[in-house]
Amino acid sequence: MSGAARGPSTRGQGGGFDGPGLARPGTSARQVPETTADPSWRAGCTPLWTAGQARPPGGLLSQRLRIAINTGGGDAPGLNAVIHAVTLAACRRGWEVFGIQTGYAGLLDTSRLVPLTPERVAGIVSLGGTILGTTNRGDPFNIPYPEPGGGVAYRDESDRVVANFRRLGLDVLVAVGGDGSLSLAHRLSQKGIPVVAVPKTIDNDLEGTLRTFGFDTAVATATDAIDKLHSTASAHERVLVVEVMGRYAGWIALHSGVSGSADVILIPEIPFDLEKVAARIAENALHGKCYGIVVAAEGARPVGGDMMTREHGAVGRSEVLLGGIAEWETRELARRTGKETRSIVLGHLQRGGSPTTFDRLLALRFGAAAVRLIAEGKRDVMVSYRPPEMAAVPLAEVVARSKRVPLDSDTIATSRDLGISLGD
Ligand code: F6P
Repeated sequence: MSGAARGPSTRGQGGGFDGPGLARPGTSARQVPETTADPSWRAGCTPLWTAGQARPPGGLLSQRLRIAINTGGGDAPGLNAVIHAVTLAACRRGWEVFGIQTGYAGLLDTSRLVPLTPERVAGIVSLGGTILGTTNRGDPFNIPYPEPGGGVAYRDESDRVVANFRRLGLDVLVAVGGDGSLSLAHRLSQKGIPVVAVPKTIDNDLEGTLRTFGFDTAVATATDAIDKLHSTASAHERVLVVEVMGRYAGWIALHSGVSGSADVILIPEIPFDLEKVAARIAENALHGKCYGIVVAAEGARPVGGDMMTREHGAVGRSEVLLGGIAEWETRELARRTGKETRSIVLGHLQRGGSPTTFDRLLALRFGAAAVRLIAEGKRDVMVSYRPPEMAAVPLAEVVARSKRVPLDSDTIATSRDLGISLGD
């Protein structure tokens, strides 16, 4: 492992982090001054104590903190806006901010820690992806190592993560993630890393918050695609089955399907009956509509059937990859309706591009609120969007279960009132 961390005695001397900042695609290590000795990166973000000095007098709330931020799991539009807001809000308080690259990897290989300054995060609010990089194979409790015989062994490296966090003199981790990354954050918090979390995922399936950032952008992308599919489906008098993401929750399918005037929306929360789906498509002809649009969540499943999966047990990954429902549904519907039927999988398009205004603002509010929570001394909590306010919810509550579409929700009722079939 390169770049073992040196102790906090190097704080403020420019040597707190070993090794060169690792450049990621679209970023340059040169753009990020590597040492705290370089005054150019410090503008507006002055470290307040240096090597050998005791912390400033006063309680926690009056301390000038050194915080780190990471982004974990699948990317979502708005990640950079959170990084921007956390950096600005923290630097305004005179704190230091460090970005941990590639999920938790940057706490194992500390050369992957980069200082973040207002200058470094300028202009990133509208950018998709994350300047810090992310991974959904970065579980520090289960790091895969190749074995000599060709197999893979797993090691718990969480103690090293905690030790490095302390050795680097970091005070709080801002963990930006979905259920997987936040479960890890909660476990690390129980091992002694003070954590404040920010809810990210296009799936909108995190408990404790009305919305996660990324969801609105994914829905906008999916709705735009469905809008376009109407014209080609109509021209060819075809049925088009659109598969959208969302894992075990149907939020993206429901919101984009209703907004995009789908005929049928299939979500994991409501197992579907193929005969009823086919009947609803056939019904279109009675109103002179010779085509049909079906929006299927990747986690949708027929009554008595299972969710369809594409990949199991990839090295270092705990989640299965869902997918394949649209293709299967297409075959079955063609047989039942006699209509030409095609499938399309929107896939990672839903995670890409610039965040919508709603997501940008939400992400900026999440980031700023996370810093306020840190200043208030809150730990092991997640920022929660509870309009019109931002609140704090215990991470333990967030990771205990996922948030699925309530069957008595107004959007479900609206679908039914509009004549959209939910397959039941
Ligand atoms: O959780 C976000 C998400 O995009 C899910 O909707 C989807 O099932 C999964 O991630 C895809 O993961 P990957 O990027 O590894 O293909």
